Amino acid sequence: MTDTYAVIGNPIAHSKSPEIHAAFARATSHDIVYKRIFCELGQFAETVRAFQAEGGKGLNVTVPFKHEAFEFATRTSERAREAGAVNVLKFGGAARGAEVLGDNTDGVGLTRDITVNLGRELRGKSILLLGAGGASFGVVGPLLDEVPRTMVIANRTLSKAEALAQRFAARYGPCALSACGYDALSGSAFDVVINATSAGLSGGMPALPEAIFAPGALAYDMVYDKATPFMQYAQARGATVADGLGMLVEQAAESFLIWRGVRPATAPVMAALRGAR
Ligand code: ATR
Repeated sequence: MTDTYAVIGNPIAHSKSPEIHAAFARATSHDIVYKRIFCELGQFAETVRAFQAEGGKGLNVTVPFKHEAFEFATRTSERAREAGAVNVLKFGGAARGAEVLGDNTDGVGLTRDITVNLGRELRGKSILLLGAGGASFGVVGPLLDEVPRTMVIANRTLSKAEALAQRFAARYGPCALSACGYDALSGSAFDVVINATSAGLSGGMPALPEAIFAPGALAYDMVYDKATPFMQYAQARGATVADGLGMLVEQAAESFLIWRGVRPATAPVMAALRGAR
């Protein structure tokens, strides 16, 4: 029987994950079906249980259910526990009560895209992470694993940036990681600036000081389906700009590895997606 997987979220219609996993399946000769599941708010556990009972083997989880997926899992990876969020579920069987593994591949998707696809070292570099919402939680640990020289989490609501930094303070020490509001960034420049805010979705961007990009800086936006004001701002100031398509494809490849034991090549899929735009 063909194994079935899906991506679950709200909204979900524009997810590229079915396309990406279909390409991975073709390239690795794995016989799988990969669907989209729209889930009503407040119905996550019921919807997942129904998919599991039908024999579904695993799910990718997207906005706004990553915290609920973390609660749903019966066993979680260390990186999922650090993030408090899960974007991959793997079912041990169809029965209710069967093990459900929860993992988080978002952060490793981002660091692989930056270090492998974009060829940028993060070791010894200064990183500025913009935002302290859901998109930031999964990426802080994997970014710190790359051993940057400094990392600053900046957010409009300072208390959220502080809470996120505090979550990692024990492991990394307070010197390497700090939190601030956007106005406190004035006078600082960074090698890598990552936009994990949702400001671009409504046509905005965080209020950044003019000189935020160090010479040769990388400006990375986790959004992948449009050019955001942050990307335009960065480009106008001479930074190299990247969108989040590579992160999406890399987190998908890590998910495929968890489910199927094989990590598909990502470059052909990324090229096809960019070509299709
Ligand atoms: P989610 O968890 O779905 O990512 P969220 O928790 O609301 O959503 O986080 C969205 C992030 O984008 C937050 O960091 C938010 O800043 P606040 O914590 O101060 O709300 C940030 N954000 C959204 N719109 C923004 C804007 N116009 N300017 C700056 N930051 C913005």
